[in-house]
Amino acid sequence: MFPNVARMRVAGMMSGTSGDGIDVCIVDITTRSDTEGQKPSLDIVAFDTVPYTKEDRECLFHLFSGKASVRDICQGNFRFGRLFGEALLRVCDNSGTDVSSIDLVGSHGQTIWHDIDSTTGVCTSTLQIGESAVIAEVTGCNVVSDFRVGDIAAGGHGAPLTSTLDHLLYHPPSRLSGVEGGVRALQNIGGIGNVTFLLSEETLDDNSSKEPVLAFDTGPGNVLIDWCISKASNGTQTYDKDGTSASTGTVSTELLDEMMLDPFFSREPPKTTGRELFSPSWAQRFWDKGLKIGCSHNDLVATFSMLTVTSIVHAYEKFCPRAHLLAEVVTSGGGAHNDFLMSNLQRMLNERMGRVVPVRVLQDICVGINADEKEAALFALLAWLHIHRRPGNVPSSTGAIGSRVLGKLTPAFPPRARTTVIQ
Ligand SMILES: Nc1ncnc2c1ncn2[C@@H]1O[C@H](COP(=O)(O)OP(=O)(O)O)[C@@H](O)[C@H]1O
Ligand SMILES: [Mg+2]
Repeated sequence: MFPNVARMRVAGMMSGTSGDGIDVCIVDITTRSDTEGQKPSLDIVAFDTVPYTKEDRECLFHLFSGKASVRDICQGNFRFGRLFGEALLRVCDNSGTDVSSIDLVGSHGQTIWHDIDSTTGVCTSTLQIGESAVIAEVTGCNVVSDFRVGDIAAGGHGAPLTSTLDHLLYHPPSRLSGVEGGVRALQNIGGIGNVTFLLSEETLDDNSSKEPVLAFDTGPGNVLIDWCISKASNGTQTYDKDGTSASTGTVSTELLDEMMLDPFFSREPPKTTGRELFSPSWAQRFWDKGLKIGCSHNDLVATFSMLTVTSIVHAYEKFCPRAHLLAEVVTSGGGAHNDFLMSNLQRMLNERMGRVVPVRVLQDICVGINADEKEAALFALLAWLHIHRRPGNVPSSTGAIGSRVLGKLTPAFPPRARTTVIQ
């Protein structure tokens, strides 16, 4: 099935908690040998985000609501499978990439529920829809999907899986931003925020190399900002482009302090979260209170945006290993385009750390993957790891009891079934 495993073309597909669209990243993965063995290296061939239509987004938000019937979920699984398959075909067409050159697809699918026990903080289950058999039928490609469940079955959170890519690609040099043994924080700001802390490989001693990577969710990324702007604009805006509305508002410290009392923020890693906690009803409570104390709509957008920034900095202060050596923050995800988030993150970090900790976007650290591409590229890598029977999780990050090969393979039936249309 995989004749040339030394060099493979893999398409990673991802749609996150924001529900903005399907990211498709086509990557050539080659294997190079180094002292530790065979390491994959990634070259981006094509990337794009295929936005959801208004109808698809409405369907998705119904599935997020927790009120969807089993029938709705069943139909949604096939509907989103078709959308994922078509998104890949669209990106192939737009980029002039022959779909038959793709050896493998890694599809994250769309999370519609990620269940955390509110008392223990343990992840009990998760559900990603986007049926892999439909993707295989629509594209004619072999598909690896359902990456999170194997880690959760082994006691982990099934997330953040980005720690796997971070661990492979982004360990800092021994001297980072002038700091010897400086720690790099890789901060993704999608619907939810998550961080990976990395030490330089040269400074890892025998003890720390056993726990080389710490990653966890920091809290809401864009999910509450999107909710807030949609509310403020009566549904005409889905996000606060470049942070413009937040920039004209004033942050309510009273409201922000109350938001930060949510037990999620002080909980020890491993920890993950989602729309189940940072839900419309969570946001509505603070929206109503904000209006009562005299906040304008833009004040509320600014306050919800500062919650994202504050929860990130709080997480670094509380949980970053060797926090006194934190030397660089590298951002990715849609939130990296929000100037209000980025400028306040820089300001607050400097204030709290008592020194300048540069905040950069991913492409500035020069490894060929940009801030938008990263998560979809990750699922290409995870599919590649699956067919090489190599672990896809970093247990020190997810909390699993051990390394696991993640994902499930759905083989395409040859010849390629590109013309098959699933209604
Ligand atoms: N130019 C921008 N200005 C502000 N926010 C943006 C911008 N571009 C994207 N975003 C935010 O990023 C979100 C999408 O981020 P993404 O990384 O795709 O998250 P997810 O993985 O959850 O889908 C959008 O919902 C929006 O809130
Ligand atoms: Mg997205």
